[in-house]
Amino acid sequence: MHAMTDLTSHLTYVCDSRDLPSESAKAVVVDARELVAWRDSAGDAHVWDDRCPHQGSDLASGGVEGCVLVCPSHGWRFDINGQFVVPLRVFSESRRPPVFARTYETVEQDGRVFARLTD
Ligand code: FES
Repeated sequence: MHAMTDLTSHLTYVCDSRDLPSESAKAVVVDARELVAWRDSAGDAHVWDDRCPHQGSDLASGGVEGCVLVCPSHGWRFDINGQFVVPLRVFSESRRPPVFARTYETVEQDGRVFARLTD
């Protein structure tokens, strides 16, 4: 007999959906990992390491602007894929290799937010 695979079986609970209003970010510690859970203006939840790839500031203290998470220290902006978003006016910056925040696959189900916390 085969057991049914639970969608959340390989996922880790992060927070309740109701604790993550639209365009908000929240620091969460799960299994000693410091994470930021945030929700964009389209309603999608995201779970990332709470560490800016620039100089390590906690992203949860930043703000959400639409579908972008903004680091509080120097204003770097990251899209929903975790990629540093380059202001169009800064041409020289656009020639850099891409920089990413550490992201995790995130699933929201039954009023709860889960993430696949890979190493
Ligand atoms: S530490 Fe995040 S922008 Fe500098």
